[in-house]
Amino acid sequence: MLRDVGPPLFDEATIHRRLGEMAAQITSDYHGQALTVLAVMNGALLFAADLLRRVTLPLQLECLRAASYHGATESSGTVEFPDGFWPELRGRHVLVVDDILDTGLTLHALSRRIRHASPASVATCVLLRKSKPRTVEVEATYVGFEIQDQFVVGYGLDFRGHYRHLPFIATLRQEVLTTSR
Ligand code: XMP
Repeated sequence: MLRDVGPPLFDEATIHRRLGEMAAQITSDYHGQALTVLAVMNGALLFAADLLRRVTLPLQLECLRAASYHGATESSGTVEFPDGFWPELRGRHVLVVDDILDTGLTLHALSRRIRHASPASVATCVLLRKSKPRTVEVEATYVGFEIQDQFVVGYGLDFRGHYRHLPFIATLRQEVLTTSR
């Protein structure tokens, strides 16, 4: 399996160091307030678990699913929230935690849906942001790392359900991407 991936773009120590910085920033920005975190599954599972353990605020954690990919590496252009369940967000400070900002469709759809629920505030936090034009106008409030427009796996990110458990982030070798399609 490790033969399928390139050298780490971000190794475990680098990720954890950055999470410490992000958590400190979030803790300071929301000082004196309570947070409601919406973690987007499955991609943000590892990121949210490691980030939130470093945030020293009163905090509620909810997980929800969002699906925008069709095929393994291309966005379908529409975002669905298949669980049908939404936590109570009225008057809450909501922080969306997602793995990666790519086309922007997921964060855009989520932020719009959340605003309908009359929260006190909405902010977004992603581990990775691809340097590319977005399909829709959306920005992330907190960003771990900027990357080029390339398909990456590991630390929650998958290719056909694989590689999520890798403790680092890496590109997939081209042979794997092309032979598995
Ligand atoms: P956007 O911003 O396009 O991204 O709505 C939504 C979701 O697409 C997935 N995504 C990736 N998954 N490697 C992955 O494993 C990638 O390079 C990648 N780019 C986008 C991801 O689940 C994100 O939340």
